[in-house]
Amino acid sequence: VRVFPESEDDIPKNRKGYVLPKHYCDFERRIREFEVRDDDIVVASYPKTGTTWTQEMVWCIGNNLDFEKAMATVLPVRFPFLELTTLFEFRSAENEAEEDSLKAFLKDSVKFTAEMESPRYIKTHLPWELLPDQMKSKQTKIIYVARNPKDTCVSYYHHSRLIEGYRGNLEDFVELFLQDTVSYSSYWEHLLSYWEHREDPNVLFIKYEDMKKDLPPVVKKVVQFMGKKELNEEELSKLCSHLSFESMKNNLSVNYEYVIDQDKAASLPEESRHFMRKGKVNGWKEEISEGLARRFDEWTESHLSGTDFRFD
Ligand code: A3P
Repeated sequence: VRVFPESEDDIPKNRKGYVLPKHYCDFERRIREFEVRDDDIVVASYPKTGTTWTQEMVWCIGNNLDFEKAMATVLPVRFPFLELTTLFEFRSAENEAEEDSLKAFLKDSVKFTAEMESPRYIKTHLPWELLPDQMKSKQTKIIYVARNPKDTCVSYYHHSRLIEGYRGNLEDFVELFLQDTVSYSSYWEHLLSYWEHREDPNVLFIKYEDMKKDLPPVVKKVVQFMGKKELNEEELSKLCSHLSFESMKNNLSVNYEYVIDQDKAASLPEESRHFMRKGKVNGWKEEISEGLARRFDEWTESHLSGTDFRFD
């Protein structure tokens, strides 16, 4: 469904609105009226921009680097996705308690999140305008992570093939992406909706590319933003090693292997069979043709004229 945050009379001509999964309509009111708590921390993003990576960083910082607990409990139970519903089947969890929690989360993610103990860590892919009203009025701490659109799109394509049963080719997917018709699009409206708030005291805007280039300064910024005690060198180094791509790829609590149907995945090329796929900046160059890349650049230019947002 395409959702416009404005009332119909106020929709500007160039406004695309947001494409959301159909089930959002069933949850819309409950999401808008969701009650926040002062110590909630939110990670918001457009899909495939490094959400999981940021979530794990934020959760570990918020939980005094308790890596043992982080590895013992799958991420959606520690850090639920507010507006997810039962899209996924999952393979059995390692223990029954965890399986029950996952089932409760999948059945009704809004209820599951509402009933969590504090402090809560909450993931959302909703754009700024569609966040729960109280997140804005009560100035909940929100960390938004952005990633360049070409890598985001390629990652989204592989994700859609692996998890959502998409069987088209990459060129067709790029078309859908550029036409703002994949879930949570428009990509640029989404990103800019948070960029406009980057200087609000409760908002931290970070980029996947900066995390890849040099993770420690980003971690330090997040620690400060969350109001936590500065990490010493040893803690910082342990956290960065826990957050490395290799480490997360092999970490069952964050790598989503339990939502992947291995039989279906077997029909895909080896490099597309995992949620933790490549974890690279500019990996798109291996997959997107020059012609399509030019279309991306024109599309980007047309959305960014008049704004001061740029990827390096
Ligand atoms: P690729 O498909 O390009 O590899 P999200 O969590 O928002 O769905 O984003 C998933 C993307 O982030 C995937 O990108 C995944 O590999 C990448 N990613 C996850 N953890 C990462 C890490 N520790 N380092 C670098 N990239 C990571």
